[in-house]
Amino acid sequence: MLNHFKISIKKDLEQQLNTRFNQEISIIVEEPKKAELGDLSVPVFSIVKTLRKPLPQIVDIVKEELTKVGDAAYFNKIDSVSGFINITLNRTKFSELVINDFDNTDSYGQNEFGQGKTICIDYSSPNIAKPFSIGHLRSTIIGHSLGNILEKCGYNVVRINHLGDFGTPFAKTIYAYLNWGNQEIVEQDPVNELVKLYVEFNEKAKLDPNLDEEARKIFNELEQGNETYVKLWEYIREESLKDYMKVYDLLGVRFDSYNGEAFYNDKMQAIVDELKEKKLLIKDQGAMIVDLGDDIPPALIQKTDGATLYITRDLAALFYRKNTYHFDEVLYVVGNEQKLHFTQLKRVVDKMGYDFAENIHHINFGLVLQDGKKMSTRKGKIVKLEDVLNEASTMSLDYINEKNPGLENKEEIATHIGVSAVVFNDLKNYRTNDFEFNLEEMVNFAGQTGPYLQYTSVRIQSILDSALNTTNKMNYDLFEGEHYFDILKNISLYEDIIIKARLEYAPSILAKYLLNLASLFNSFYAKERVLVDDEVERNTKLHLLKMTKDILNDGMRLLGMQVILKM
Ligand code: ARG
Repeated sequence: MLNHFKISIKKDLEQQLNTRFNQEISIIVEEPKKAELGDLSVPVFSIVKTLRKPLPQIVDIVKEELTKVGDAAYFNKIDSVSGFINITLNRTKFSELVINDFDNTDSYGQNEFGQGKTICIDYSSPNIAKPFSIGHLRSTIIGHSLGNILEKCGYNVVRINHLGDFGTPFAKTIYAYLNWGNQEIVEQDPVNELVKLYVEFNEKAKLDPNLDEEARKIFNELEQGNETYVKLWEYIREESLKDYMKVYDLLGVRFDSYNGEAFYNDKMQAIVDELKEKKLLIKDQGAMIVDLGDDIPPALIQKTDGATLYITRDLAALFYRKNTYHFDEVLYVVGNEQKLHFTQLKRVVDKMGYDFAENIHHINFGLVLQDGKKMSTRKGKIVKLEDVLNEASTMSLDYINEKNPGLENKEEIATHIGVSAVVFNDLKNYRTNDFEFNLEEMVNFAGQTGPYLQYTSVRIQSILDSALNTTNKMNYDLFEGEHYFDILKNISLYEDIIIKARLEYAPSILAKYLLNLASLFNSFYAKERVLVDDEVERNTKLHLLKMTKDILNDGMRLLGMQVILKM
């Protein structure tokens, strides 16, 4: 809502000034650096420059014109401080407006920013026959939340899990399985046993370099469609997916497509041909490359033995997606370490002469650290994600057992809290930053955590449940109070925040906003008794609480957290 004010004030004021001076004048409406200066602010320096008139005169003119804009009825005060015109809103009227808007909207914050546009998001995308790593967890959490945020902005979102189901690592597992694997043992615990085989292969290959050659042969034959290998491949893929589904179910994550790298096996030749036709493919020591300029290494498209590469499959996937979904943008939620790969991908598409190269975005992210080091193994063992999520759930259960042992369905609730704690902890950090993974901290109900948000929402819910509401009359004058208006103004910014998070591909913007909203409520609640005798005052407070809770819940949903009703 505040955003709508900014837009319409800008529009009206520009129009008025243009008419008055018969000159193109552009202005900005922003929020003042300090909240005590007002709610909105218009800097006038650029107008002074355009019109070449003294500052005091411009200040007077803009102040005067502001009294005539469409929203002027909502202004209480128009001040000026050193080149800024600051507007203080009439809190009573503004609050009434926001509350009516809220009440008349099904999904507050839903907007049409992306109306009619399609975005493909490639996220999670683990490599099969390997355990789901913490890096893939980040991709899953960030991608899932971005998908939700984009949908809230009206986009048609296509969620794609580009499974790493092809490549030499995979052939290594097949080689090991066929040469020293035991079918019975593997069938009991497929993914873990296959990983063991892969690790063993690498150890043996250190002593016997021949093995790598053997694996490469298998990979080639697999690419040609060798039946035994294809069957094994299918088995491994299926078992891995089953394993990943456990994590996806816990997180409530879903995809529209699980087309992995292998899906593009028969779609690469067309790309290679097109590159050739466009004279972009160069032979380099037997391999085929695309030169991308002096600043980055060339893209290796085909190896000497004809085998294709990761980027070849990504090119095929990209064109397949363009032709299938007609995307306006495609996002790749992948760690910082693949920066070069995506720069190359984009550059190749650009060299091929396609404009949509500029709509390819690598949504990169940092590492998860433990004691300052990359978290991938613990005491030499690979950290299994499912174990981490289960540990978080157990910690939450301990907490519930301490505070509310009689809670119904407490195991299920504890799982929701634990998993959401991990999700929120990830998303509250700006995605490109590395962060420390500290379970104790993220499950703490009192910190800047997921459980803190869930707890705040439950707390509000329980007040609402216990309240006796006898009127629907509102006293908007109450919003003159600072602590009332702070919450309301924040609520009015929800849509703005969602759009900001979308533009920066940064769920952390929403996460921080929710923390602030929760803390505003908690300080409000520390000051105000809600269930007072005065019916209208009580109803007004309950209404504010309900709005706060609805936003907290919707925001948590967008982040991919579970909303809970009792804890
Ligand atoms: N499987 C890859 C990995 O684990 C990530 C794939 C990302 N998506 C893509 N289209 N390249 O490193």
